[in-house]
Amino acid sequence: MSLLAEPQSSAVTVRAAAKINLHLGVGPVRADGFHPLQTIYQAIGLYDDVTVTDGEDWSVRTVGDSGIDLTAVPGDDTNIAVRAGLALAAHHGLAQTAHIEIHKGIPVAGGMAGGSADAAATLVALDRLWGLETSDEELLAIAATLGSDVPFALIGGTAIGSGRGELVTPVPDATELWWIVVPHEIGLPTPGVYRHFDVLAERGVVTAADPVVPDALLDALAAGEPAAVAAALSNDLAAAAYDLRPDLVELRARLDALGADAVLLSGSGPTHLVMYDDVDRARAGAAELTDAGVLHWLAPAPVAGCHVVSLL
Ligand code: C5P
Repeated sequence: MSLLAEPQSSAVTVRAAAKINLHLGVGPVRADGFHPLQTIYQAIGLYDDVTVTDGEDWSVRTVGDSGIDLTAVPGDDTNIAVRAGLALAAHHGLAQTAHIEIHKGIPVAGGMAGGSADAAATLVALDRLWGLETSDEELLAIAATLGSDVPFALIGGTAIGSGRGELVTPVPDATELWWIVVPHEIGLPTPGVYRHFDVLAERGVVTAADPVVPDALLDALAAGEPAAVAAALSNDLAAAAYDLRPDLVELRARLDALGADAVLLSGSGPTHLVMYDDVDRARAGAAELTDAGVLHWLAPAPVAGCHVVSLL
């Protein structure tokens, strides 16, 4: 029997952060088509806000900050936020539906898990709207069915991701970093980058060995040593992304020339990340990009995972 829960509020807004991968170790493709990962996620201060209200049917509307291209965001039930709502309702045997408003500050198809952030925020928002008090373990399990990065979007901070990325373990992080986030107007869909990783592995251009989390990076994070963090950053998908998109190499060279602590491709790309351990140097780097007409945002890290910002 399907039930209706008594709404506890009329509108709930939950904020979810973008993720970056300080280390992204990718192994050989599994039988299910996913790749075994050993990654270190860090949540950074670019956010999507998701507001849920009761609705006669499932519906979703997305608006974006300036510079965010919404073309690739579905406006129907295939939107991952709606899938999150359906999964939560099904988990509790509820017939409830809702309207979901997404305000995007995270680039779309940018390798920053923006869709995953929306799914995670929707789970938390609907849980509060409907007064369900779903346990953290259950939310993490539902999140894992929605996408590999969704559990991390719930917890935020800094965490190891294993399995296909969905098994998350928080780790100590004493750093206070600033990242300049440089999007690219042409997105790079994640599945294609993983497929190209397989092609390069077959050709022997990259090695798809069993991935490991580097102790050097974990130690540097725990000790709050930005220089050691910078030296230990790595991304196994970078070769595949640059091979698919040689136009990104020029942007990368331009960012390298800023003289920051490090430059990193975000996840499957095409977004680039420029690391600083000092906000004044980060602002100076950002000003150089402004002068050069390069779109970017400045974000602190690590930041919290999903949290309620408005409850009406
Ligand atoms: O889990 P998620 O839906 O975010 O994954 C999107 C796509 O990225 C998958 O369909 C798969 O092609 C690829 N992927 C992968 N290995 C992972 C995570 C994602 O191959 N560990």
